[in-house]
Amino acid sequence: MSFNGLPAHVWPRNATRTADGAVAIGGVDLRDIAAEFGTPVMVVDEDDFRSRCRDMAQAFGGGEHVHYASKAFLTSRIAKWVHEEGLALDIASHGELQVAIHAGFPAQLIAAHGNNKDRNFLSACVQEGVGHVILDSHQEIAELNAVAAEIGKVQDVLIRVKPGIDAHTHEFIATAHEDQKFGFSLASGSALRAAYSVVEASHLRLVGLHCHVGSQVFDAEGFSLAAERVLKLFGTILRETNVGEEFHILDLGGGYGIAYVEHERALDVAALAADLLERVQKHADRLDVPTPFVMVEPGRAIAGPSTVTMYTAGTIKDVTIDDNATRRYISVDGGMSDNIRPALYQSQYDFRVVNRATNGTAIASRVVGSHCEAGDILIHDQQLPADIATGDLVALAATGAYCYSMSSRYNMMMRPAIVSVKDGCAQLMVRRETIADFFALEVEDFCD
Ligand SMILES: Cc1ncc(COP(=O)(O)O)c(C=O)c1O
Repeated sequence: MSFNGLPAHVWPRNATRTADGAVAIGGVDLRDIAAEFGTPVMVVDEDDFRSRCRDMAQAFGGGEHVHYASKAFLTSRIAKWVHEEGLALDIASHGELQVAIHAGFPAQLIAAHGNNKDRNFLSACVQEGVGHVILDSHQEIAELNAVAAEIGKVQDVLIRVKPGIDAHTHEFIATAHEDQKFGFSLASGSALRAAYSVVEASHLRLVGLHCHVGSQVFDAEGFSLAAERVLKLFGTILRETNVGEEFHILDLGGGYGIAYVEHERALDVAALAADLLERVQKHADRLDVPTPFVMVEPGRAIAGPSTVTMYTAGTIKDVTIDDNATRRYISVDGGMSDNIRPALYQSQYDFRVVNRATNGTAIASRVVGSHCEAGDILIHDQQLPADIATGDLVALAATGAYCYSMSSRYNMMMRPAIVSVKDGCAQLMVRRETIADFFALEVEDFCD
């Protein structure tokens, strides 16, 4: 068995094995990154990230059709890359909006999501001039209208529709079926009622409809079916209300599946986009509605494959699991605080030794983090090199999406550093957290 190859469809585009068996990304040897920045550390291949932005823009007919879903992975530098590559941005909290604005992202190119946007967030959206707010509840329609009236602006909005589709993915990340918190139900008529309310609201302008069928989706049918259902509502709204020509956007969300392990294949986004745009056109013709301006919101498919998380192997233990089997437990210096996905979704990852070549013999193994939690598992059950030793550098690939953005301080572990690499150069993007960062949030106790 060889552990020394790097599956090109899982690892960053600019990852290679060096002559002496270590891994380099963007021309930078990962051993040098560990020596300079320590571990755990996330290494982002800048060219990989940027090229996926460009691929996405090309697939959908221009960057103005693509809002990068910043919830997947956001720092000021990432927002800057997204803008430089000509994409728009999707934010889902006041904090994400602040980072985008701080990075100089033009507000007009930002779309604001959220099922529970408070008044401060709504007012920041209107004040900053975000391109559109995606409405998620009847309560929010009234609230945003009042906020916009107070500020004296008319806010462009989309209505988030639940098209009632199960996207065949893990239940926690399937968001278009009925029994979940996002959006207005199509089936019950709630979405149409929302459209009537928005059209009557003096300070809102209805510019389109939105849906998102789920995440890590591989079955392209779901997107087309959602588009068809939402377009039908499009037609009804056009016929039954007095919306004008400004009502033209069909936002089909994100969710394109990527390969996390060798045997998986990412959804072919270029093929999907060509097919989806054609089907949208056909649905529109059949339903007799004008061709909408299609928007999409990919996060994982842009950020995910660009990044690896590197750890140092620590304690190694052989554990008897039944009468004639043992499993090797390899502990690393991070875990569920920097990558909650295996614990939350049973996600799998490609795992490699990155400081040297391994000798090829394999042993049943589990890679675990350093947290005080038995469920702190990064790799559940894989045949891994038997010669992994304490001190080896190891890495999980495709950790760019929903790892740092879902990270925590569990067990007072410090969040890892993030380093971007390009053309042989490594640049610190976010420094490692320190103990001083913990204390910076604490308030002195003056009651004693
Ligand atoms: C509304 C919306 N748009 C876009 C995305 C991005 O999804 P993905 O990262 O799977 O492309 C999500 C993810 O949860 C979402 O909820």
